[in-house]
Amino acid sequence: MKHLLKLLDLSKEEIIDILNLADQLKYENKNGIEHHILKGKTLGMIFQKSSTRTRVSFETGMYQLGGQALFLSNRDLQIGRGEPVQDTARVLSRYIDGIMIRTFAQKEVEDLAGYGSIPIINGLTDFCHPCQVLADLMTIREYKGRFDGLKMCYIGDGNNMANSLIVGGLKVGMSVSIACPEGYRPDPQVLKFTKEYGDKFFMTDKPLEAAAGSDVLFTDVWTSMGEEDETEKRKIAFAGYQINDEVMAAANEGAMVQHCLPAHREEEITEKVFEAHANEIFDEAENRLHAQKAVMVKVMSDKQ
Ligand code: CP
Ligand code: NVA
Repeated sequence: MKHLLKLLDLSKEEIIDILNLADQLKYENKNGIEHHILKGKTLGMIFQKSSTRTRVSFETGMYQLGGQALFLSNRDLQIGRGEPVQDTARVLSRYIDGIMIRTFAQKEVEDLAGYGSIPIINGLTDFCHPCQVLADLMTIREYKGRFDGLKMCYIGDGNNMANSLIVGGLKVGMSVSIACPEGYRPDPQVLKFTKEYGDKFFMTDKPLEAAAGSDVLFTDVWTSMGEEDETEKRKIAFAGYQINDEVMAAANEGAMVQHCLPAHREEEITEKVFEAHANEIFDEAENRLHAQKAVMVKVMSDKQ
């Protein structure tokens, strides 16, 4: 594996391999076993959008692997003043060993990989959020012990999270249902991908229909980063697209709830459901650290 640009590029085996390594690194981390697999390596982290989890988990993860991470905000980089990504990629390739980038257009991430000569990791674009969904899959497997026969449900905006959850969920063997309003459906490239999976994928505009018989429920903010101008319009479009008691009653007994965070209580999820499932949600947040360390080892280690 050279890069992590989107889950569509990965096989089921590659995803499972990352999850297995993430479990091992988590075990070692919890038991004080040092793993300086990336000793002497440097990861550049380009952020064109805000972040709490992604920034801190990548930076800490790189330190735990024996390397260092550089926080590169677009306010400071020449990218912010118009230097093309093609040149940035070629320059950074001469200094550092890998780049994590959070930005708007997926094309920018693909261009970095095309022009640079070092591994590129997608830390969120408008199209997808692969690192988050690897952590989500890790958490589901921790709680449920398997993927086969499970049904994942997503309620809300057909955004970056929905796109990655659909691809990741189907690839590892779960059924996936999604409830979103018309006009806010997942990306056409992702919907085309679902065709290979027949009735293992189901899309509706009715949250209760999507939630019926599900084992793990996801939602995400109604307004993503970069869409703030549409906040009021979206509050109207997404009213009712919420994980609440009624939705939980339609799901299977013992169903998990996951949220990539940050969460907007009483919008996409009620405070009550959020707090009842807080352990699962904060385990999910923790697993960003372990899953991303596995990704960095896979793409940046000389040995893997
Ligand atoms: N879930 C997630 O990516 O969080 P941050 O935006 O805080 O990085
Ligand atoms: N869909 C959200 C995810 C944040 C982690 C956004 O893009 O803002």
